[in-house]
Amino acid sequence: MEIIITPDYEQMSKTSARIIAREIKKKHDLVLGLATGDTPVETYQELVKIHKEEGLDFSKVTTFNLDEYIGLAPLHKNSYNLFMWENLFKHINANSENVYVPQGNTDDPEEFSQWYEEQIKKAGGIDLQVLGIGGDGHIAFNEPGSSFASRTRVKALYKQTIEDNARFFEKVEDVPRFAITMGIGTILEARKILLIANGENKADVCAQFIEGPVSSQITASALQLHSYVTVVLDEPAASKLTRTEYYNWVRDNKHLVQKKLGR
Ligand code: F6R
Repeated sequence: MEIIITPDYEQMSKTSARIIAREIKKKHDLVLGLATGDTPVETYQELVKIHKEEGLDFSKVTTFNLDEYIGLAPLHKNSYNLFMWENLFKHINANSENVYVPQGNTDDPEEFSQWYEEQIKKAGGIDLQVLGIGGDGHIAFNEPGSSFASRTRVKALYKQTIEDNARFFEKVEDVPRFAITMGIGTILEARKILLIANGENKADVCAQFIEGPVSSQITASALQLHSYVTVVLDEPAASKLTRTEYYNWVRDNKHLVQKKLGR
């Protein structure tokens, strides 16, 4: 894993947007996996800025979102689909035919999940998957104990996730108990992965998934099994890492190691 520690949320967002933009410039028909939540909001704002000011072209990019709450229609105010349109898609030249977000109000979530997996395959697989991390260490909605071989499926949300996400709803009882989520196996098949995290409340899980053992109890630790992961953190989220000096040395001397990392 390449660990990039930035001073604050603003720099985390700018750095991660630049990483995404670089991949789109390299491959115009990039297949991009996307996350929702608070963490990527400014990354998406930066991407919009790069689109408007530098002409970053999304017209051939295909996107697959990680997850959606079961029971919410695509235009529900708390749906991840609406989140994506409000925060990114409507501000760029996204082609709606190439935008995939799991359908929360599908009649048959299991069948839908299989269809979603097939669409990812048909698109040629995900080139770059953007991830956040939950307070319980989840990636997408792969809650503690999720199999590392899991595919897109229905997952019951963990108590902590329901409480964490209650801030987006009027009351905690309104938070859906289930979601459709890409599996860890699905995520690990992405060619490159970019995980972003900010804030002191993510410090413990970031230390656990980066420097702790690989364990289904912190599902983000599955990323240790992937060969191309970049983690962009702000200082508060990185505050419990023990090898900060090493990560910063690598970041600052990247030109020396770039060839070895193949980046
Ligand atoms: C959202 C998702 C989740 C979030 C995680 C962090 O699509 O997959 O795993 O990335 O819950 O959420 P925030 O960014 O709100 O702290």
